[in-house]
Order: sequence, then structure tokens, then C-alpha cells
Amino acid sequence: MLRVVVMVSGGGTNLQAIIDGVADGTISNTQLVGVISNNPGVYALERAKLANIPSTVVSPKEYESRAAFNDALLATVSSYKPDLIVLAGFLVVIPEKMIDAYENRIINIHPSLIPAFCGTGYYGLKVHEAALERGVKVTGATVHYVDKGTDTGPIIMQKAVYVEEGDTPKTLQQRVMEQAEWKLLPAAINKIANQ
Ligand code: GAR
Repeated sequence: MLRVVVMVSGGGTNLQAIIDGVADGTISNTQLVGVISNNPGVYALERAKLANIPSTVVSPKEYESRAAFNDALLATVSSYKPDLIVLAGFLVVIPEKMIDAYENRIINIHPSLIPAFCGTGYYGLKVHEAALERGVKVTGATVHYVDKGTDTGPIIMQKAVYVEEGDTPKTLQQRVMEQAEWKLLPAAINKIANQ
């Protein structure tokens, strides 16, 4: 059984897709051992609670320095003894120490077809705003391994989604989630769990 920790910052719809995937067998050989959020009070934590998954909040506001926060984050992750760490809308830069400790065992979902619209400053709705501004006709989502760059690690899976006439950043974000992210992330975890 692959022990998986999911890291979140917000609503947690990708976390929900993983929870549902484990429950319905789309993701096999996998146990969700913990959820970690940098934000208290986000709905992702409620989703973890409803699914009986232990969760921990590690907020930068509780620490006097970034280094202290980073140490606490790594200690919390390690306390769950994960085989795989899944960044599901986790909008914090992963400390280098964590990348060294979990080399090739951290994956991230990004809401574009990398290398388009990725890197520093491209997260959440901003990615879709940039895609619409550029006028692309196809976008999508990418699951990749996390290395020391921002969105630069090896790509595991991608799925394309069409932009439609009249799309707003919100409608595009919703379509990318429905057609790509919520399928891709469970599929990538299942692949890793069964390889
Ligand atoms: C998702 O669209 C995810 O791809 C994105 O944040 C959203 C989180 O939604 N992640 C990034 O932009 C990472 N650079 P969720 O909390 O509902 O899963």
C-alpha cells in the first residue's frame, strides 16, 4: 500500500477527487494517511475530516522565520511516513530540504499544459487569466514530479482542454478541473501506486 500525504491550501476539489478515487477503486493500492494545509479554516480540511483522514495545519504565521516554518513542515510531513506526497493546490514553495528528503516522491498538479503558463507567479486563477490573455485555443493540466525549480520537474501526465468562445478565467478553470485535473491526478497516483 502506497502511503500518500496530500498537501492543500484551499477548497480541495483535487483532494476530493483523490478521496473519491480511493473509495471507488480508481486509485488502488493506496492509503491516504494525512492531509496538511498551510491555511487554517479551508474547506479542504473539512473534506479530510469527512473522509476520516488525519490532518494538520502548519501555518507560516505561527513561526518566527521561514526556516522555522520549513522545518515544521518537513517534520509534519515525515510524521506521516509517506511514500508519496501529492501537492493538490498547495500554494507554498516546497523547502529544498523536503525535496532532498523526498526526491522523486513529490508530485504536483498544475492547471496548464507545461511549459506554458507555469513558473513563479502562475497559480490558481492567474494561470487561466494568462491563457485567455494570450488567446490560446487549447489549455489543460499537467501532473509532474517536483524538483528544485518551479514547475520544472519531469512530466508524468497531461490532458488537453479546449478554450471556448466567451470563457472567463472562472469558467475555464472549472472546465480544466472537470475535464482534466480531477481525472489526471487520481490516474497519476494510481500509476505510481501500481508500478
Ligand atoms: C487547482 O486548479 C490546481 O491545479 C491549482 O490550484 C487549484 C486548487 O484547487 N494549483 C496551482 O495553481 C499550482 N501552481 P483545489 O483546492 O480545489 O484542488
